[in-house]
Amino acid sequence: MKLIPKGNRVLITGGASGFGKAMALKFAQQGWRIYIADIDVQQAKKTTLELTAQGVEAHWVKCDISQPDDIQTMYDAVMASWQGLDVLINNAGIYSGGTINEVDEATWLKVIDVNLVGTFRCCHKFVPLFQKQKTGRIVNIASLSGILPTPGSIHYAATKAAIVNLSQSLRHELRLYKVGVTVAAPNIFPTGIFSNGMIPNGSIKQSLETVMSYSDVTADSVANSVFNAVMNDEFLVSTDLDTDIGWFLKALDKAYTTSIETLAFIAKSFDKKSQTKRKRKERQ
Ligand SMILES: NC(=O)c1ccc[n+]([C@@H]2O[C@H](COP(=O)([O-])OP(=O)(O)OC[C@H]3O[C@@H](n4cnc5c(N)ncnc54)[C@H](O)[C@@H]3O)[C@@H](O)[C@H]2O)c1
Repeated sequence: MKLIPKGNRVLITGGASGFGKAMALKFAQQGWRIYIADIDVQQAKKTTLELTAQGVEAHWVKCDISQPDDIQTMYDAVMASWQGLDVLINNAGIYSGGTINEVDEATWLKVIDVNLVGTFRCCHKFVPLFQKQKTGRIVNIASLSGILPTPGSIHYAATKAAIVNLSQSLRHELRLYKVGVTVAAPNIFPTGIFSNGMIPNGSIKQSLETVMSYSDVTADSVANSVFNAVMNDEFLVSTDLDTDIGWFLKALDKAYTTSIETLAFIAKSFDKKSQTKRKRKERQ
């Protein structure tokens, strides 16, 4: 049975700008009501005004997803306006670059706290509501970095890989309650993520922005894919060819590792058997 949202209320963390804003506009075009939760109050107000000017019901709340009190404030605000929720999009995230030699523990912890623990905090807050409603969908925004190796940004990649696994595991936990989970793992597309990000070396920032400018996906096209995945109860959002290839390679990698491990196991058992035979012969 497909788990299709029963209402049209969506909450988007980090919805004030970039990809979050593109998703807000996409859902709004389709007749949804929008709640934006963002650390950037000015931008959140601006985007909300833009939406309401189009005749859309839109609200904003200040929320830093690394602050548990803000998560509670966001929850209370949504409940006060809507008394429930249909889709939670965990989009807020930060980018940080740097090799293992460049990343210190404080930066590692900060990126984990916002991207990974922030996603957990929002899921943790809204899951009981979704379970009670017996309907709801969580959409977690990971990245291609969460599927493929990303040298030069191990901490960002680690958070995104964890978000992919968190989503896979949560999907199985929540299916019983008719609550759906979707994950998107897009390749780079133009937003402010690198200019807003923490990158130790200025020239890397420039090359990342150059790579970004060559991307053949846009925030709007990825937002479109997310919307379709929600409406079709898909787990993985197919956002671009690179991501589809990434998932395929990951599956191959798993199959390869499994077959290597199986072969090693068989070889070991043969080796054990022949050793026992040899010892038996020696004793005779
Ligand atoms: N742009 C890309 O190339 C790309 C690719 C793959 C995945 N993503 C993911 O998409 C998501 C959105 O990124 P973006 O490209 O729009 O970046 P962005 O920097 O342009 O926008 C991020 C938004 O999140 C808000 N935000 C940042 N920290 C926050 C916090 N602690 N609490 C609440 N809000 C916070 C910002 O104010 C901003 O509105 C991120 O999770 C990112 O990892 C982006």
